[in-house]
Amino acid sequence: MIADTSLMAQEFAWKDRSLSADARARLLVKELTLDEKIGLVHGSFPPKNKALPSDAIMGAGYVPGVPRLGVPSIRETDASLGVANVLDMRKGDVATALPSGLALGASFDPALMEAGGAMIGKEARAKGFNVMLAGGANLTRDPWAGRNFEYLGEDVLHTGVMAGASIRGIQSNGIVSTIKHFAFNSQETGRNVMNAQLNEAELRESDLLAFQIAIERGGPGSVMCAYNRVNQDYACESDFLINQVLKRDWGYDGWVMSDWGAVHSTVKAALAGLDQQSGYELDQEPYFASPLKMAVQSGDIPLQRVDDMVTRITRAMIKSGAYDDDPKPRTIDYASHAAIAQTAAEKGIVLLKNDNGLLPIAATARSILVIGGHADVGVLSGGGSSQVRPVAGIALEADAAWGPAASFGKKIYHASSPLEAIRKRAPSAQVRFLDGLDIAAAAEAAAKADLVVVFAEQWRTEAEDVEHLGLDQDQDALINAISKVNPATIVVLETGGAALMPWIDQTPAVLAAWYPGERGGEAIARVLFGEVNPSGRLPISFPKGAEQAPRPSIPGLAGVKAAEAAARGKRGYGLAWGPRFDVAYPEGADVGYRWLERQGQEALFPFGHGLSYTRFEYADVRIDAADEIKVSFTVTNVGDVAGEDTPQIYAAVAARGRPPIRRLVGWSKVALAPQETKPVTIILEPRLLAQFDTEQNAWIIPDGETTVTLSRSAVEATGDIGSVVKLRKRHLRP
Ligand code: BGC
Repeated sequence: MIADTSLMAQEFAWKDRSLSADARARLLVKELTLDEKIGLVHGSFPPKNKALPSDAIMGAGYVPGVPRLGVPSIRETDASLGVANVLDMRKGDVATALPSGLALGASFDPALMEAGGAMIGKEARAKGFNVMLAGGANLTRDPWAGRNFEYLGEDVLHTGVMAGASIRGIQSNGIVSTIKHFAFNSQETGRNVMNAQLNEAELRESDLLAFQIAIERGGPGSVMCAYNRVNQDYACESDFLINQVLKRDWGYDGWVMSDWGAVHSTVKAALAGLDQQSGYELDQEPYFASPLKMAVQSGDIPLQRVDDMVTRITRAMIKSGAYDDDPKPRTIDYASHAAIAQTAAEKGIVLLKNDNGLLPIAATARSILVIGGHADVGVLSGGGSSQVRPVAGIALEADAAWGPAASFGKKIYHASSPLEAIRKRAPSAQVRFLDGLDIAAAAEAAAKADLVVVFAEQWRTEAEDVEHLGLDQDQDALINAISKVNPATIVVLETGGAALMPWIDQTPAVLAAWYPGERGGEAIARVLFGEVNPSGRLPISFPKGAEQAPRPSIPGLAGVKAAEAAARGKRGYGLAWGPRFDVAYPEGADVGYRWLERQGQEALFPFGHGLSYTRFEYADVRIDAADEIKVSFTVTNVGDVAGEDTPQIYAAVAARGRPPIRRLVGWSKVALAPQETKPVTIILEPRLLAQFDTEQNAWIIPDGETTVTLSRSAVEATGDIGSVVKLRKRHLRP
């Protein structure tokens, strides 16, 4: 073994592990021919039904290596929720399915994100992949966006910290994680043609800052640029986004890969900083194959730019460890991984409402009626490229009944039955199940039960947005009918984003379980019965109505639908294409709860909200404002069950001549036994106290004041502090 390595090192200078990754990449690039370089900067989408090269794996992407120089191939898989296997492309291959991004986001627990990332990264490596296309860090700007379930939430700091932790976890396996989709891919409708219009300060202070924080914390080897356009330029050919912001200002030294089908040019994209075309078969042309070679030969693209592309790719692969220890198939300990998926689901469930302590379910309940959501067999998951075929099995796999994404986003229920898990915990109760399709029959049965648990769902998939924020089909009517006849009605929501709740006033208890992953049924039942004290907090606002959103309907939908109808079957998946259109973002950097506050609107359930079966109190609050602003306090669990609290710090910051509005500037996650007290110190993120000054290309904290509050949610300040902190003028690098 040792002899082999030194032989290799002699044979290939770049393999010398005593050198830095950068030095090794440069040595390697010197040895490569132009054709070999070109070979490394475009990847292929492994074709179905065609023989694959011996070192390829059916997955999202493949870039052949350079055997002559001992360079392994790049083998890419989706992504954030587990090793995906979309449309069963690797027949029968399963993986551990984490809950959705929003569920993970709701944990507000970076350690959990890291553990989840480490777990899915381990599976990716054990299946032979060396790049995970994970780390969705787009802010959920639009409540109906089809991919909100994959993202982490609407807040800059929260998304940055959580995405960074997940990436760190994935990369701890000696493989690369990407971060995606850079940037502003905030709707699926027309994602390949839409143009996001925001000014530079708004860009920097919102989604870009979330990416920046995630990159600082997670160090992803690669950044995936998005489908959409930003201020006219396609994200994958935006000199501003890639060259100026990412590479110059943030000093990013990894590589920028395109999304699949997101490249539109050779020269413009290459000069803007794109380093690799992914799934080139999905683009109009193999832009980074022969056209790139021709552009180098004609002098339109300097050879140094191609060298830089290859240096970036190989340096990141070397740095990750993937080139030195090329992943080989191994067995996977699925049992211990399932436990991580279950913990993640439990920590992500948010108790939205619990009047009169209806939950946890009392041991005295003699008859429990469970209705709807296919709870007899499983839990819902989101569709598209992130779709994992879970180890637990698939309980139900249906073509989506509607929409052009039907062939891509199958509606899949993971086999983890909440009904069975409830039955296990209520052995002496009569537990019945009805599918809820016959509303009158369900109401009649509900009237006779001690307790009713209604499972309500809203399905989302990549490539399509939801056209309204209600629950699918007649579920609102069902919940209305049930909660009218039985005051002990509990609603469990399985949604990929915010849902409207026209029945909320008459429904005493509601849990947001999101898409809870392959152990979701068990996790939900444990929360319902109090084996787990819910500790999730909303990572998004649940609005009272669609009109509260900055864009109360989906921009561009009509044109895109018409184009899709005309080209059905020819243009690929979903509602991605159509005539070009612009999307204005009046909220600017004030996404989600910040927009609502600016508009003087109240959410139905605000960002950061989540109840517990115990209560937490704060004391001894202190603020130290030097260069860093630190808030210290104690938190005590004053109830009689153990629980986890998420104290949140918001600062009211005035920006662009508008009155101050609150931003999350720090939080902590604290586990406490009954009556236990712990000290907490939170250091505020300075860039969230600042504004981005485009003339000086710097963050500037102005001289002035900000009000800092210790809060339970974006709107519920505890009253323990509302301290005005003096800010001293400071410049921070971009
Ligand atoms: C998605 C990416 C994904 C890629 C490869 C695209 O459709 O937008 O998130 O990583 O496909 O599957």
